Amino acid sequence: MTDEGSAATPSTTPSESPSETPSQSPSESGRPVLGIDIGGSGIKGAPVDLATGELAAERVRFETPAESTPEKIAKVVLQVVNEFADQIGDGPVGITIPAVVTHGVTRSAANIDKSWIDHPAEKTFEDVIGRDVVLVNDADAAGVAEVKYGAAKDHPGLVLLTTLGTGIGSALIHHGVLVPNTEFGHIEIDGHDAEKRASAKYKEEKGLSYKEWAHKSLQRYYETIEALIWPDLIVVGGGVSRKADKFLPLLKLNAEIIPAKLQNQAGIVGAAWLANDYATHRSEPLIHAAVDPNGGD
Ligand code: BGC
Repeated sequence: MTDEGSAATPSTTPSESPSETPSQSPSESGRPVLGIDIGGSGIKGAPVDLATGELAAERVRFETPAESTPEKIAKVVLQVVNEFADQIGDGPVGITIPAVVTHGVTRSAANIDKSWIDHPAEKTFEDVIGRDVVLVNDADAAGVAEVKYGAAKDHPGLVLLTTLGTGIGSALIHHGVLVPNTEFGHIEIDGHDAEKRASAKYKEEKGLSYKEWAHKSLQRYYETIEALIWPDLIVVGGGVSRKADKFLPLLKLNAEIIPAKLQNQAGIVGAAWLANDYATHRSEPLIHAAVDPNGGD
């Protein structure tokens, strides 16, 4: 196992894999790994060079089908895979989804079609594209990307990434290892689901200025999260983070709070990293199984 350990903890690992364990992981062979980011309006993908975190080819984007059911989305995912089939060999594909994912099953659907709830989504994708798939929550993928290559690169402590968009996504990463599915966008604050009062969508709907949004929504949101988990660093992603200088400096928090760096590539890059991580480590025993029960070194 590498010094970073496996970020694909048991709850994010695929339920089953259609192909045999390859002798070399994609990154060991130097091949790029395909990352695909499923969003409310677009499905974007590109092969990623994991040595640098950069896209190895220009990103493609397809519209998300209006009826965004698993079957319809899987067909678009196949189109993305077909675009890059020549570059990614028989490698696995990392896919993000704006939902909780445990053991390959999507468990929630806050801002997507309700048919995703309890759907064996990883299996659906694997059946349609005929490759190993690692399916992860969209914010978890973005958080991993920022820690591996972006604003929180190699941070040794506790990093919280939040994405401010239609909803609020969160990723919690300690010393490079992801704790998946934190869903801090849904903590209850003053009797409300937090993302309903602090997301970028809320700002737009209410016509708030950046200053009003920072003072009325974001300050309360981030100070509440801070009191619960005490991160060392908070990274803020989502499209609105391009305007971070208009609202992040207004927030008074204990932790440093900074904008994300990878912007709309973060999901793609993090998904590819996690797919490779799983392909590299899937045959290893769990860390606790490797501990000598007699206390030896
Ligand atoms: C969902 C999360 C997702 C976030 C950002 C939330 O509503 O519950 O799973 O990460 O939106 O897309």
